[in-house]
Amino acid sequence: MSTDGVRLFPFRGQTILVTGAASGIGLATAETLYSRGASIVAVDLHSSVNDLPRRVTGRTSKAAADALVVAAQADVSQPEVLTNVLDDVVGKAGRLDAVIHCAGVSRGGTALATSFVDWQHVVTVNLSGAFNVARSSLPRLIASQGSLVLVASQLGLVGAKNSVAYASSKGGVINLMRSLALDYGPQGVRVNCLCPGPTETPFLLDSFARAADPREARQKSLGRIPLGRFGTSQEIANAAVFLASQEATFIHGTALVVDGGYLAG
Ligand code: NAI
Repeated sequence: MSTDGVRLFPFRGQTILVTGAASGIGLATAETLYSRGASIVAVDLHSSVNDLPRRVTGRTSKAAADALVVAAQADVSQPEVLTNVLDDVVGKAGRLDAVIHCAGVSRGGTALATSFVDWQHVVTVNLSGAFNVARSSLPRLIASQGSLVLVASQLGLVGAKNSVAYASSKGGVINLMRSLALDYGPQGVRVNCLCPGPTETPFLLDSFARAADPREARQKSLGRIPLGRFGTSQEIANAAVFLASQEATFIHGTALVVDGGYLAG
C-alpha cells in the first residue's frame, strides 16, 4: 500500500461493525469509516438499514476501491440473532477489526412514572444489547487485536432528572466497558466508551416531541450546553472514529465525553 493510501484511507483493509447504523450517530459513523477505506457491517433494527449500502457508497466518492458495505437488519438485544449476523456477514469478510456500538433507545420518566415494561425495554436494549454486542464480537476482536467502542451518554456519568431508566442503563454501559477493559486489555482488545451530550438526531428530537411542552424542553436542553448549541452526528462520529483508530492506541478503559461542555458545571 502506498503512503498516500495510508493517509487517505487509514482504515483500508479493515472490517468494522457499526450498530444503530440506520440513523443519527451510527449512520454518520458508518459513512465516515467507509470514506476512510473501511468495509462496514451495518446493523440496525430498522429496515432502512438495507438502503445503507446504496446510500453510503453513492454519497461518498473517496472510499478505497476495495471497501464494501453490508447491511443486516437485527435486534442487538437478541444474542443469537447477533451471533448469526457476525457468523454470516463477518465470517465472509474473514476478520473484524473494530466495533462501534451506537444502537440505543430512550424513555423519559421518574421512577414512579416509568412502568416496569419501559424500564426493561431500555435496560434490555441499551445495557444487555451492549453486552451482547461485546460478547459476540470479542473472539474476533481478540483475533484481530481490535477495538470496541460502546456509545454511552453523558447521562451515564451523572444522575439525570426524569430519565431514570436511560441514565441507569448508560451508567451500566460505562461500567460494562471498564470491566471489559480489565478482562480483555491483556488479550489485546482496546475497549472504550463514547459519551455524547445532546446531539441533533431523531433520538433527541423524539425526546423533545414526547415532552408536555416540546419547545420548552428544547430550550431547557440547549440552556445546559455552554457552547450554546446541540452537537451534530458528524461531531460525535468523528470522536467514535478516533477511538477506533491508530491515533488512539493507548486509550483504553475510558469514557470520552463529547458534550459541548454539558458536564463542566
Ligand atoms: P437515533 O435514534 O438516530 O439512532 C439509533 C438507532 O438505533 C436507530 O436507527 C434505531 O433503529 C437503532 N436501534 C434501536 N434499538 C435497536 C435494537 N434493539 N437493535 C438494533 N438497532 C436498534 O439515535 P442517535 O442519537 O444516533 O443515538 C445513538 C446512540 O447515542 C444511542 O446509544 C444514544 O443513547 C446515544 N446518545 C445520543 C444522544 C443524543 O442526544 N442524540 C446523547 C447521548 C447519547
